[in-house]
Amino acid sequence: MRLRGKSALITGSARGIGRAFAEAYMREGATVAIGDINLEAAEKTASEIGRNAYAVKLDVTDLASIDEAVKAVEARAGGLDILINNAALFDLAPIVEITKTSYDKLFSVNVAGTLFTLQAAARSMIARGKGGKIINMASQAGRRGEALVTVYCATKAAVISLTQSAGLDLIKHRINVNAIAPGVVDGEHWDHVDALFAKFENRPRGEKKRLVGEAVPYGRMGTAQDLTGMAVFLASDEAEYIVAQTYNVDGGQWMS
Ligand SMILES: NC(=O)c1ccc[n+]([C@@H]2O[C@H](COP(=O)([O-])OP(=O)(O)OC[C@H]3O[C@@H](n4cnc5c(N)ncnc54)[C@H](O)[C@@H]3O)[C@@H](O)[C@H]2O)c1
Repeated sequence: MRLRGKSALITGSARGIGRAFAEAYMREGATVAIGDINLEAAEKTASEIGRNAYAVKLDVTDLASIDEAVKAVEARAGGLDILINNAALFDLAPIVEITKTSYDKLFSVNVAGTLFTLQAAARSMIARGKGGKIINMASQAGRRGEALVTVYCATKAAVISLTQSAGLDLIKHRINVNAIAPGVVDGEHWDHVDALFAKFENRPRGEKKRLVGEAVPYGRMGTAQDLTGMAVFLASDEAEYIVAQTYNVDGGQWMS
């Protein structure tokens, strides 16, 4: 067990990739806080995945909510060893139709939410003096722009950048900050993405999903389980000397 006795907080883990991370961390011996804006779903997930998981109400756009969630983890588990900044929103529109509302929502969850949850976790880890591991969820969308995906791509590029700066600033406290950049991962998130492409590219539902899967060098879309090995590794002692990096886990879609 590579995370035995560790305490983790995973944002947006009521479903999807975050939930798979929570299950993988539990298998490796960690206690996991399922932090999500949807408390009911977080409670259901926590009860389904095992007794070392517990739900925490968390809205990453609200500084008070972030502080309360970190305090809840400290009270329940004696401190915070690992944070995964996983919560994010997606939207899609041609440049001429992007709204300020969509822009504000995506930047507030994907960028400010990542930065200020990272900040609260770092403060807690520094006060405890035991170091820690912080993993941010970037995306291949952060590696280059995509027509229709302007705002989401920009938020994920920002996540890669703030991973670098935070990684450099926090390593003196023995806090490793790194990121994972997935490619296309099947699940409820991509059902939503597929529906948006169907609307803006005038396609039948399901077609975009099929095409993106076929374009992956590995030969299919990813699954949340394809990402768990990297998430466990980056949270483990084996990753101690890895600082400020973003790792592609995408079936060969992007090379950097
Ligand atoms: N699915 C993919 O293809 C893919 C590809 C690349 C990167 N990613 C990234 O991986 C991460 C997880 O993606 P997913 O597909 O599991 O997403 P998802 O949409 O399935 O899950 C996101 C979770 O975040 C929660 N959430 C939303 N707003 C929140 C807020 N303000 N505070 C707290 N929680 C909030 C939601 O309730 C939900 O449980 C995201 O950062 C996403 O950008 C996903």
